[in-house]
This record gives sequence, C-alpha cells and structure tokens, in this order.
Amino acid sequence: MSTGLDGVIAAETVLSHVDGEAGRLIIRGHDLETLADHVSFEEAAAILWDGFVPTDDLKRRFGEARDRAFARFAPFNPQLAALTPIEGMRLLMAALADAEERHAVLAVGGAAVAAAMAIRAANHQAPVAPDPSLGHAADLLRMMRGVEGDADEVAALDTYLVTIIDHGLNASTFTARVVASTDAGLFSAIVAGLCALKGPLHGGAPGPVLDMLDRIETPLQAEAWMEDAIGRGERLMGFGHRIYRVRDPRADVLKGAVRRLKGRDNRITLAEAVEAAALKALARHKPGRKLETNVEFYTALLLDAIGVPREGFTPLFGAGRAAGWVAHALEQERAGRIIRPQSRYVGPWPAQAA
Ligand code: ACO
Repeated sequence: MSTGLDGVIAAETVLSHVDGEAGRLIIRGHDLETLADHVSFEEAAAILWDGFVPTDDLKRRFGEARDRAFARFAPFNPQLAALTPIEGMRLLMAALADAEERHAVLAVGGAAVAAAMAIRAANHQAPVAPDPSLGHAADLLRMMRGVEGDADEVAALDTYLVTIIDHGLNASTFTARVVASTDAGLFSAIVAGLCALKGPLHGGAPGPVLDMLDRIETPLQAEAWMEDAIGRGERLMGFGHRIYRVRDPRADVLKGAVRRLKGRDNRITLAEAVEAAALKALARHKPGRKLETNVEFYTALLLDAIGVPREGFTPLFGAGRAAGWVAHALEQERAGRIIRPQSRYVGPWPAQAA
C-alpha cells in the first residue's frame, strides 16, 4: 500500500511531466520556462489541447464563452455574497449542465467569469460583464477589479495563468480524472477538480502565505518567526511539495514576473527574507526532507501586486488550471477505463458462528 499514492503511476498522459528531482516541468514538449512569458494563456491552452479540442481562434471563442457563462451565472449572483469566493465559484461552475453542453471552451471561459463574479460578490460589488474583444487574462482582471489593468499587470496575470495551466497528476487533476473516468461529464470533472483545489494543502496556500508575511512584518523578524512556527508544529505555507525535491521551477518564473512589476508595493524584499529564513529553518528542523519553495509562495506576491484580494487567489488558480482539468478529463475519457483502486480492510470481522 502507498499512503497518499506516492510513486503510484495511475495514468499515461501526453499533457505534462513533472520531474521532481531535476525541478523541471514539461508541458506538451515545452519546458515551462520557454512557455511562460512567451505565449499568452490562449496560446498555451491551444498547445495543451492539441488533438483533444479544436484550438483555432481560441481568443475569440474564450470571449464568446465568457459572455455565455455570464448570462448563465447572473441569476445566481444574489446567493454569492454569503459565500467565500472559492465557494461562490464552485456554486457557479456547478450551474453548467453536463447534459446541455460538453464544451471545453465554456468550461475555461466560465471559470474566469465565475472567479471574477464570486470575488466581487464576496466584497459586495456588482458583477462586471465580460468584454469578449479582450484577451482572456486582460478580461479576467477587468471583470474582477472593475477597471482594466495596465499592460504590465495583464502580462503578469498571463504569465501566472500559463505557469499554472497544468502540472501532472496533482490532487485536483487526479480528482478530475477520477470523475471523468466514470463518464460523469466534463463540467462534473471541473467542479470536482475545483473542490480538491480548495484545500490549503493544495491550491489554498497563497492566501495564508500573505497572512504569514503580514504577521512577520519586517525582514529582521523572519528567522525568529520561522523558528517559533516550526516549533509549534505548523506547516510553512508556500514550502514543500510531494514531487519536487528541489525548487519548484514555477516559483522562479513567478518571482521574475513579480520583479517586473516594479514600482508597486509588492513586498518582494520582505518575501525574499522570509523565503531565506524559511528554507534555513526547514533544513534545520526537517533534515533530509528537502523542503523547498513551491509555486504558491510567489503566486501570493504576484496576485497581491495586481490587486487580487487574498480570498481570490484560489479562484484565480482554478481559472487557469481549468484548462488543464479539461485536457486531463478528455484524455481520461479516451482511455476508457474507470479508475477504481482497492483499499486494505483493517476493520473488525464479523464474529464466527459458534
Ligand atoms: N512546513 C513545515 N513542515 C513541512 C512542510 C512545510 N511547508 N511541508 C512538509 N513538511 C514536513 C511534514 O510535517 C512532514 O514532517 P514529519 O515527517 O516530520 O512529520 C514531512 O515534511 C512530509 O514531507 P513530504 O512527504 O515532502 O510532504 P507531503 O508530500 O506530505 O506534503 C505538502 C506536501 C502538502 C505540499 C506540504 O509540503 C505542505 O503542507 N506544504 C504547505 C502547504 C503548501 O504550500 N501547499 C501548496 C503546495 S503546491 C500546490 O499544491 C499547488
């Protein structure tokens, strides 16, 4: 038995490969570093979806899908104020009917609209309708903030969405594949992925990363704070990974994008001090574990710098990863075999008849 399925290979995929020893992420034959900063989210989705979904003119088709999704979601808006943004996004995505449309493009367009609408509603702001003429990242930022971002902010969000588009058989992607393997339909697979992403051990970490930076306040306090936190048995958010034994390559891509957002209050100096202190403390307290910085640490800085409220970090992650969930769900459907592992029974046995 493998607790947590460590090392278990449960699918063959052409989509992405995570080499945890080398710190390398390959997406459909491209190293992440050659995609992020060089292609838009639409172009990255086209690369990922090749052979699974028609990929012509995705910019226009995502725009149309955002419009359609907005119309579908509008009646649910009054219910969102009582929910956290990730709960609101889950509600909206669940409103897309499997039987009605098995539409990959709608899943991704809808995820962007759902994220923006749920974030605004949680802050008691009216929803902002999509502008289908804009690129996906630009419109997502606009729908969320109510005003258009400048070119640097849009570029940073595009880099983020490309960086997190897919990542092997992580918890949410595996969940999406399990649901897809039962032929439950594409939107059910996406909602399931979103539910798995919600947890702080997976996609819910970047909000707590920012909380941690707030509590540490100044670089001088970083080392003492880390010692105390690890002493209390806490997990340091933004560090550690099931697969990476070296630095997560996505962390450096996002750190570069944050640095390019100069002039904004993006806490990079504090973050670097906190990162160094955390790595030192983890090396001392967890020797041999090789706990390094993961994607969530600089995600928090990037999304904060472009005006995403911290409860909105996980929904934005879901908006980008939706493209990966779609591809994996379709690949799993093609594999045509239900995912059904076994458990080992360790409970009591019925008493033997005398
Ligand atoms: N802070 C302190 N200790 C840690 C951390 C951490 N961030 N991560 C792992 N450890 C410790 C565990 O307490 C455990 O120690 P023990 O054996 O002494 O009890 C040991 O390291 C387990 O290490 P792994 O097997 O490498 O970790 P696992 O695969 O179980 O967990 C996880 C991976 C969930 C990401 C973990 O590192 C963690 O909780 N990190 C903080 C949350 C976080 O940043 N999540 C985002 C991950 S990236 C993503 O999903 C998109």
